[in-house]
Amino acid sequence: MQPAPSDTPFRHRHLLGIERLSAEEITLLLDLAESYVSLNRRADKKQDLLHGRTQLNLFFESSTRTRTSFELAGKRLGADVLNISVRTSAIKKGETLIDTAMTLNAMHPDVLVVRHPDSGAVKLLSEKVNCSVVNAGDGSHEHPTQALLDGLTIRRRRGRIAGLTVAICGDVLHSRVARSNIHLLNAMGARVRLVALPTLLPTAVNRLGVEVHTDMREGLKDCDIVMMLRLQTERMHGSFVPSEREYYHFFGLDYEKLALAKEDALIMHPGPMNRGIEIDSSVADDITRSVILDQVELGVAVRQACLDVLSRGLPDLRHNQ
Ligand code: NCD
Repeated sequence: MQPAPSDTPFRHRHLLGIERLSAEEITLLLDLAESYVSLNRRADKKQDLLHGRTQLNLFFESSTRTRTSFELAGKRLGADVLNISVRTSAIKKGETLIDTAMTLNAMHPDVLVVRHPDSGAVKLLSEKVNCSVVNAGDGSHEHPTQALLDGLTIRRRRGRIAGLTVAICGDVLHSRVARSNIHLLNAMGARVRLVALPTLLPTAVNRLGVEVHTDMREGLKDCDIVMMLRLQTERMHGSFVPSEREYYHFFGLDYEKLALAKEDALIMHPGPMNRGIEIDSSVADDITRSVILDQVELGVAVRQACLDVLSRGLPDLRHNQ
């Protein structure tokens, strides 16, 4: 297992989370992603940076945006990209995570992109393989590329991240998107507010360096960015919320609550959205406020930037000829 060469500005072999990245490393990734945004708008989107490389996407949980954009990112950089579907793989036959990792590792991939329902599973897998590993979401722990694409969306729309007030609202407890965004926004100098029902806040919330609000109207006051989160019922064992109707009444983003935020506050959502539960349909589709589709577009560029920096640490193919 080769460490990344020390002269590369990004000194990590894997991208497992935002927590261990510095503001400089985050800025490097955002700047690099910026250059891919314009490339992605051209008719010819293909590069050969990853020519000859193999990228495997291993998703143990369903995904539309994240899996598709990792696939597009790899292909646009010239890699051979394979998607391994858990439904049809030996994982369904009871193979352990480590056996799966070792089997795939024996085929010499260069990058493994992994999503798994258990927090920590992607890190464990990264310790068993020779290639770079990108965390595409592990349980309720981290989802680093989502936070990076959110950061890029904010920076492009507002010109900066530092000094902005960002309200992250909804099911914070189960959200890896929230956790990665808290790390990124804190590192980049934003003020973070968490807005949620007490039952949907993590127990150690006061150690996260954020303001906490359990009243959405209070939490949205004068904020620059409203980041909505889905109620992740698949991770809820027991009852965390009253009825969906009541939840929408108190925590659903509608125009009335949005009016408390700054007049030009941006609305974000990582998707998939549950319209009428955490967000009103017309608010989500309001093109003067909602940047939800920007987030999707920038997701491809951010993933290209991540594959780009990690590939700099891979052994040079020319030396192997
Ligand atoms: C999120 C995820 O999977 O963590 N979605 C995404 O990656 N775009 C959020 C969610 O599922 O609610």
